[in-house]
Amino acid sequence: FAFTSANQAWADAQITKYPEGRQASAIIPLLWRAQEQEGWLTRPAIEAIADMLGMAYMRALEVASFYFMFQLQPVGSVANIQICGTTSCMICGAEDLVAVCREKIAAKPHTLSADGKLSWEEVECLGACANAPMAQIGKDYYEDLTTERFAEIIDELVAGKVPVPGPQNGRYAAEPKSGLT
Ligand code: FES
Repeated sequence: FAFTSANQAWADAQITKYPEGRQASAIIPLLWRAQEQEGWLTRPAIEAIADMLGMAYMRALEVASFYFMFQLQPVGSVANIQICGTTSCMICGAEDLVAVCREKIAAKPHTLSADGKLSWEEVECLGACANAPMAQIGKDYYEDLTTERFAEIIDELVAGKVPVPGPQNGRYAAEPKSGLT
């Protein structure tokens, strides 16, 4: 693994933000940049970053494996779908969304679809509990999902479209009405 020259310059700049002996504090931004560059965090990438920061590989792996934002397996070339499975979403149908993923993407999480375009996983609360059930796709949230709409979103992704993010039930479609009229 090697950062591109632009990313290496960026990484070097991050490292210099921290006092001598505290370079390990730059671990999260460097892991994130490596993931953006490669799509997921390979072992060589984690090893290289650990070396840059003077850390043991195991300490860097501890950080990378703690946060579900970091991917330790290959992800779909179009998207990795993260379904919230915590209480609000679970009560409102997260398991049904998981079933859609099992049918349309792959039977098991962290597995590529047959065409390599998609992967999926269940994650903990993403902080959009009021709009449950929801999923994060790339950097966008898709909320108020039904199984039908979720299946359509997957079809749109496979077709190369970008589904419109946000609430999927028209929650914000109309202008709010004044209480006086
Ligand atoms: Fe799903 Fe919080 S419980 S976003």
